[in-house]
Amino acid sequence: MQVPLLDLKAQYTTIKDEILAAVSGVLESQRCIGGPKVTELEEKVTAISDCKFAVGVSSGTDAILNSLMSLDIGNGDEVITTPFTFFATVGCIARTGAKPVFVDIDPKTYNINPDFIEEAITKRTKAIMPVHLFGQIADMDPIMDVANKYNLAVIEDVAQSITSTYKGRKAGSIGTVGCFSFFPSKNLGAAGDGGMIVTNDEDLYYRLKIMRNHGANPKYYHKFVGGNFRLDPIQAAVLLVKLPHLEDWSQARRHNAAFYDEKFAGTLVKTPYISPDCVSIYNQYVIRIPKRDELVAHLKEKGIGCAIYYPRPMHLQECFGYLGYKKGDFPEAEKAAEEVLAIPIYPELTEEMKNYLVDSVLCQLSNGQQRT
Ligand SMILES: Cc1ncc(COP(=O)(O)O)c(C=O)c1O
Repeated sequence: MQVPLLDLKAQYTTIKDEILAAVSGVLESQRCIGGPKVTELEEKVTAISDCKFAVGVSSGTDAILNSLMSLDIGNGDEVITTPFTFFATVGCIARTGAKPVFVDIDPKTYNINPDFIEEAITKRTKAIMPVHLFGQIADMDPIMDVANKYNLAVIEDVAQSITSTYKGRKAGSIGTVGCFSFFPSKNLGAAGDGGMIVTNDEDLYYRLKIMRNHGANPKYYHKFVGGNFRLDPIQAAVLLVKLPHLEDWSQARRHNAAFYDEKFAGTLVKTPYISPDCVSIYNQYVIRIPKRDELVAHLKEKGIGCAIYYPRPMHLQECFGYLGYKKGDFPEAEKAAEEVLAIPIYPELTEEMKNYLVDSVLCQLSNGQQRT
């Protein structure tokens, strides 16, 4: 049996006719930049994220970059974030000329540990960027407390957590801005790249909109140096077809997560910890095991997909060597990088596939134990 980490074709088959009609509609209209599909998606995303404003952009990366630029963050500034994230979070900070400043993670949730943020603040700190990893929101109350105390912006990297909640509040609605990604593997994935920024700050909303279009307002009169961060209307049309299914898909992921939680209980497999304050959308189901690489090899042999998010924390990346961090600076992030493993959680997994996966994991673990 083959169990891929993600099977986008399985999802596509269920909505193929609607997707083709939606794409064809945009092509027939020849509204190829901006237009009603982008506006409609922006309105719908404000509704599902409990925010007043949304700006469709070209990717999750550009959502973050546009947010930083619109908040006037650049040379000489510092932004505090987590070293245990996808590259884009930190890459965007560096691209503005600002300095990424890391603090370690909470080993249970893998999200930034709010206890370490205040000691990392300097006169140059402009913002905090928590990343809501794997579908679960970071512990936002203490983050907002420290941000308010020092008058810092909070940029939520919500790429992996659309519609997840923290104390009943929606991802992206708690900080100054929220940055979504519609990368195809996300719970709401486009047929290519796409992203969205949400905010409740009206002034910032106008800056974000202008920045997405080379900082021009009106056309050919440039207020600031922006970029081409526009969302493709074909992607907006695809996303509008998928959006009504998002809740069911996330629910199916939660159902699969509950299945694994039960099967792995009492074994060597450490299952994801979801805080009682949070409802996760399980963009990834990440287990933790000491001899991870042996399990990876075994699953590969069994035809089961899995992936390591993320094998090298950001403070140890070659391109960030100039920041001066070294191994041992963020022990929890480093330990997580050695032990985590994402296993298939996508909504269309069958009971048979899940049972095969659980049996394969447990069989390898008991053999591994015998060998030691
Ligand atoms: C945590 C995180 N931040 C940012 C991004 C960047 O999003 P995109 O790939 O849409 O540019 C991603 C997506 O891959 C992500 O997982």
